[in-house]
Amino acid sequence: MKTESNNQRGFWGSRLGFILAASGSAIGLGNIWKFPYIVGENGGGAFVLIYLVCIFVIGTPIMLAEFTLGRKTHLNPVGAFASLKPKSAFISIGFMGVLAGFLILSFYGVVGGWTFAYVVKSITGSVLSFTTPKEAGIFFGDFIGNTGEALFYHALFMSVCIAIVLRGIHGGIERACDILMPTLVIFLFLLMIRSLTLDGAMEGVAFYLSPDFSKISANTVLIALGQAFFSLSLGMGCMITYGSYLSEKENLTSSTVYVVMFDTMIALLVGMVIFPAVFAMGLEPAEGPSLVFSVLPVVFTNMPMGHIVSVIFFTLLAIAAITSGISLLEVVVAYFIDQRGWERKKAVLIVGAAIFAFGIPSGLSFGAMADVKLADMTFFDHVDNLASNYLLPLGGMLTAVFVGWVWGTQNAHAEIEKHENKFKFPWAQCWEFLIRYITPVAVGIVFLAKVLP
Ligand code: PFF
Repeated sequence: MKTESNNQRGFWGSRLGFILAASGSAIGLGNIWKFPYIVGENGGGAFVLIYLVCIFVIGTPIMLAEFTLGRKTHLNPVGAFASLKPKSAFISIGFMGVLAGFLILSFYGVVGGWTFAYVVKSITGSVLSFTTPKEAGIFFGDFIGNTGEALFYHALFMSVCIAIVLRGIHGGIERACDILMPTLVIFLFLLMIRSLTLDGAMEGVAFYLSPDFSKISANTVLIALGQAFFSLSLGMGCMITYGSYLSEKENLTSSTVYVVMFDTMIALLVGMVIFPAVFAMGLEPAEGPSLVFSVLPVVFTNMPMGHIVSVIFFTLLAIAAITSGISLLEVVVAYFIDQRGWERKKAVLIVGAAIFAFGIPSGLSFGAMADVKLADMTFFDHVDNLASNYLLPLGGMLTAVFVGWVWGTQNAHAEIEKHENKFKFPWAQCWEFLIRYITPVAVGIVFLAKVLP
């Protein structure tokens, strides 16, 4: 076992670099692909309000807890729990996190591959010849069902993640995010201007911002909380890992606030791109998961300057997927570097290849293996379900319990206040209360609601 002196670990070169990388992890397919369609399905503005409550009351305290655990131990999730409570059952929270990272990236890489393919297909213009979402949906279905093409792009996506993570924390992840995240923001603003200046755009804005509370049920709250978790990359030690490369002088509370704000702002702005455009073209916002891949191509086909707009949009989606994919890979890699003493190069290549191989059946779940089902779910569905609905909430709840009750908020507080950083009244007391009582109970309820029939 190696410790923080391990020179294979690496560090962030600057505070901004860390914030961009952590935001890059948080801002991903969850924000751009999933958030708009679940808003569309769950009553627009009312859902957005509930989501915001979940982000601030539950997500933010857990993120601070994860950063603190990482910075305190300078270790991966397994090492972090092991060093604070050696030989205890809590180490399994870390193992669950590493497993979740492996599983999530195995299917996230498949969808990441789709985004790469759509960048190419938007450049060639082949996604711009549809008059109805049905036609675009058939085109999309044919593509993801094509074994060769789907695997090729899946492999390409994983190769890019591997190439970045191979270069380490500062020279790889941080440098990539330093370029990609500002690009993402610029692209998003360009898209928003285009979308909001379409005739009929305001109807979409109204749908997005005026809450329809009749659509809200207990289930909506569960969906909002699950989304808050996934979107902030919480519950699997990703933020423990990123926090572990921080220096003692960094201010953990303000970093948490920046990352949460950035992630939330991007999700909200993406809604401002998609809904005005969808409404302006007279299409349906409640299309479900195919919203981005089958409704938007029709929007682009009909919109002035649609070709360039489609290239920008799918590039934005691909960037968001890469900066999250690398964080998932880094969690598993950090485990092998810290706990097994592997060199970074060996860890990245072996882990990256293993995750790709395990993801192949997920990649084939829409074509060659579409009929291979267990309990009516494909391989892709099972891996997604296990990781997103079980491992993440359980991991988040246990992390809150660990910091709130086992390691203790006093110790966490001392870590947060290192180097003259202040964690003052009432924020510290608020955080303590949330992490000990509210967060574990709320996440526990969501978890039970999902697990119980
Ligand atoms: N937050 C990412 C998204 O919204 O797409 C997904 C994710 C990345 C989840 C990293 C968990 C994680 F550790």
